[in-house]
Amino acid sequence: MKLIDDLDEKPQEFIEMVKNYANNPKGFFLIAGSNGNGKSYSARCIYEENARFILPDHDNDEAIFIKHDDLKDLLTETFNQWSSLSYLKETYSKTKLLIIDDLGCRAPTEQMIGFLHSILDNRFEDRSDIATLITTNLNAKEFASKFGDAILSRCSSGLKYRLDSPDRRPHDQF
Ligand SMILES: Nc1ncnc2c1ncn2[C@@H]1O[C@H](COP(=O)(O)OP(=O)(O)OP(=O)(O)O)[C@@H](O)[C@H]1O
Ligand SMILES: [Mg+2]
Repeated sequence: MKLIDDLDEKPQEFIEMVKNYANNPKGFFLIAGSNGNGKSYSARCIYEENARFILPDHDNDEAIFIKHDDLKDLLTETFNQWSSLSYLKETYSKTKLLIIDDLGCRAPTEQMIGFLHSILDNRFEDRSDIATLITTNLNAKEFASKFGDAILSRCSSGLKYRLDSPDRRPHDQF
């Protein structure tokens, strides 16, 4: 059973956007909103529809799905290793579908800002052929103050959707 088959229809215009983007991923798509309203789930649907091989912790050239914290760790590991860093830049600039989940969930490092600026600029140039999906809890003002206007401008250059539906995760009183 694929995730997209279980995608419910709320909010309908958003689900339509997700399905259309999953079928024909091109350009930037920014999904914002508060906790638990389906950003990561939708991003995983889009990934699953486009990744040829889904193996835990193994991305391929077709599609990359990475969380903010994992990207930070990956960059820390490659710090001062120029060959690894340039390989990472090349891969993240060229992959057909790049998904960065929960971008801005923590303050980004200077290294991460530099890396994002470089790859998102490359991906903006190629946006008619490749797709970049970002999910975030931040609003535009918070996003700009953490990442700067240049990164915001590229991330918000295409489709944008703010989910304001309630948290779907079950909550118990405590
Ligand atoms: N459209 C949907 N159809 C069916 N189930 C969904 C849908 N969207 C989300 N869910 C369910 O709701 C739960 C919360 O969604 P998700 O993890 O995507 O939230 P999120 O917006 O990424 O939250 P956070 O900002 O805290 O990371 C998921 O575990 C998933 O099972
Ligand atoms: Mg999430």
